[in-house]
Amino acid sequence: MSTANSYFLGQFPTTRLRRHRRFEWMRQLVAETVLSSNDLIWPTFVREETLSPTIKGMPGVVRFTVTELVEAAGKAQELGIKALALFPVIPIEKRCEHAMEALNAENVLLQAIRALKRSYPHLGIISDPALDSFTSHGHDGLIKGGDDVANDETVQALCKHALLQAEAGADIVAPSDMMDGRVGAIRHYLDAHGYQDVAIMSYAAKYASAFYNPFREALGSDQCLGVKNKKTYQMDPANACEALREVALDISEGADSVMVKPGLPYLDIIHQVKQKFMVPTFAFHVSGEYAMLKAASTQGIVDYEKTLFEIMLAFKRAGADGILSYGACDVAKLLKK
Ligand code: PBG
Repeated sequence: MSTANSYFLGQFPTTRLRRHRRFEWMRQLVAETVLSSNDLIWPTFVREETLSPTIKGMPGVVRFTVTELVEAAGKAQELGIKALALFPVIPIEKRCEHAMEALNAENVLLQAIRALKRSYPHLGIISDPALDSFTSHGHDGLIKGGDDVANDETVQALCKHALLQAEAGADIVAPSDMMDGRVGAIRHYLDAHGYQDVAIMSYAAKYASAFYNPFREALGSDQCLGVKNKKTYQMDPANACEALREVALDISEGADSVMVKPGLPYLDIIHQVKQKFMVPTFAFHVSGEYAMLKAASTQGIVDYEKTLFEIMLAFKRAGADGILSYGACDVAKLLKK
């Protein structure tokens, strides 16, 4: 070895992080984050029979009838999915300003909860008391005078809706509406009616995001909302401290777990929430995120399965305990391979 060469090698590091990357088994041995089907929640749409099953922006996602949903839920459970989140699709004719259909005990959401619970007592059912499926204006709450959502009137309606969902068999109610004080109000209302064991997963830090478009198309609430947006109740994407305040409030009001939404653009929020509050924290990989992945993979730009898996792992690495994703069943299938 020439002097010049040994001098050169002497500069080399004794610490070589590549040593642990040499073989698959070695990489697995030192992996810091593990993804399992225990972490997955599958968001689903349940429709009345007369409506169309397809959602333009979301290939691979359908609006199920109650019967179809029950069948699909069975398959999801076999794949290891732990829980389903349900979102109802209601015919436009049944929507009104006061979201009356939300209080109809035979509405498609409550039917679906009962049918799922009957068929799979051990599959978790998460339902959302927000009113956007049921309002003619597409907002998550009630409008009173002007065109803004009235906070306290909405909270009262949410309580009633949450109780109906608990009575139907929901294990977790997950309010996505971002009204102030709704977690505390729902907690008291459920407790007062004997449902103290029904948990609350709060959509605590939910941003006014452009990534929800395919979801609104799936619900048909996009037509109702028109050019309007939800910026007076959902959070400004510019804010992080405010997200922590939202989470702190919801925990103090009795939230059992909290959610950050959307997912991937908000990993910093997920990380901070988990570090600061140490409560069960969920990420919602939302419709627009799923749609982008599908669109890019359909064009051969990225591999759907690999990118999806990487994204799920990123949520866990950031601190999420669980993830809601339209790709949950695809991930569960990959984990079984
Ligand atoms: C509304 C609600 C939305 C989502 C879940 N619940 C959309 C919105 O706030 O307009 C979005 C989910 C997704 O995009 O996948 N209560």
